[in-house]
Amino acid sequence: MKNTNSPQKTIIITGGNAGLGYECAKNIAKAYKDSLIVLACRNVEKAKIAMDSVKKESVNNNITVLELDLASLESVRSFIRTFLNSNFPPLYSIVCNAGLQIVNGIKYTKDGFEATFGVNHLGHFVLVNMLLEKIVNSGRIIFVSSDTHDPLQKTGMPEPIYDKAEFLAYPGKSVVTLSGTQRYTTSKLCNIYCAYELDERIRSQTTRSIAVNAFNPGMMPGTGLARDYGLIARFAWKYILPVMTLLKRNVNTVSKSGRALASLVTNAEFENVTGKYFDGTRQISSSKLSYDIKNRKDLWGTSIKLVQLKQDETILPLD
Ligand SMILES: NC(=O)c1ccc[n+]([C@@H]2O[C@H](COP(=O)([O-])OP(=O)(O)OC[C@H]3O[C@@H](n4cnc5c(N)ncnc54)[C@H](OP(=O)(O)O)[C@@H]3O)[C@@H](O)[C@H]2O)c1
Repeated sequence: MKNTNSPQKTIIITGGNAGLGYECAKNIAKAYKDSLIVLACRNVEKAKIAMDSVKKESVNNNITVLELDLASLESVRSFIRTFLNSNFPPLYSIVCNAGLQIVNGIKYTKDGFEATFGVNHLGHFVLVNMLLEKIVNSGRIIFVSSDTHDPLQKTGMPEPIYDKAEFLAYPGKSVVTLSGTQRYTTSKLCNIYCAYELDERIRSQTTRSIAVNAFNPGMMPGTGLARDYGLIARFAWKYILPVMTLLKRNVNTVSKSGRALASLVTNAEFENVTGKYFDGTRQISSSKLSYDIKNRKDLWGTSIKLVQLKQDETILPLD
C-alpha cells in the first residue's frame, strides 16, 4: 500500500536522479515517510522517471522533481523562486550531491566558469546560501566530497592544487594548467572548505543551529561520474572495477554509500555533529590542506563575488 501521509519536512537532493543521489533519495524515502523529497535535477524528464522508480521501490509517494541546472546561476535562482513558491513543508536538509568530472578539455558553465568548479562548488554555494534562511533549526546540510581530495588516501587521483578560487573559475588567468582530474579533486577539496566555512559562519554570525558536514562516499564504480572518460576506461569503470568493492577498503557499492549518506540526513546520532568530515558514517579527519583557513576564506570571499551574491539573498553577512 502506498504511503499517503502528509509530509512534515522537506529534503532537497541535488542530482537525485542517478547514482549516489538516487540511492540516497531511495533510502530516505523508505525509512522516513514523513519527509517530502525534492529531486533537484537538470533533466526533468530523466528525473521524473527516477522519481517514479523511487516511489515504487520505497512505497512512498512523497517525492517530487524540480529543475535545477547547477551550471547556470539563473537556473539556480529560478529553482529557488519555484521552491519558495511551492508551499512545501519546512526545509530540513539540503544534500549537495550533484557533481561531474570532465577529462576531455575544459568546459564552461553558462556564466563562463570552468564547469567542474562551477557545478561542483559554485552552484551549490549559491543554492545553500539562498536557502539558509528557510532551513529549520536542527536542520542538516551535507556536501558530498571525495577522498580523492586527500593525497594520503592514495586513491590514484592527482592531488588537488589550490592557489586562488579565481584561477579555478577562470583557468586562463593562471600560469598553472590543471588536468581534468586535478580540477575534479580540487573541486572536492572546495566542497570541504565550503562545509567548514559555512559551519563556522552559521555558528559565529547567526543564532541558528544547522549542522553542516562533508561526506566521502568512497569510490563507487559503475556510476555516471566516468561518462567523460574513453571507451576502455568506461568499460572498466562499469564492468571490472565493481569487483574491487569486494577487495579494497573504500571502494563501495553505490547502494552502500547511498545508505550512509541518507543516514547522515536522518539518524539522530548525527544531530549535533557539525563542521566535520565523514567517511561513510565514520567521522575522520580530512586532508591537511583542507584545514587551510586562508584558502577557505579565499574560496568563500571569491565565490560571493563570482556569483554576485547580494545581501538580501543570504542571512550571512557578506563581508
Ligand atoms: N562515483 C564515485 O566513485 C565517487 C567518489 C567520490 C565522490 N563522488 C561524488 O558523488 C557525487 C555523485 O556522483 P555519482 O558517482 O553518483 O555520479 P553520477 O551517477 O554521474 O551522478 C551525478 C549527478 O549529478 C548530476 N549533475 C551533473 N551535472 C549537473 C548540473 N549541471 N546540474 C544539476 N545536476 C547535475 C547528474 O545529472 P544527470 O543525470 O542529468 O547527468 C547526476 O544526477 C558527486 O558529487 C561525486 O563527485 C563520486
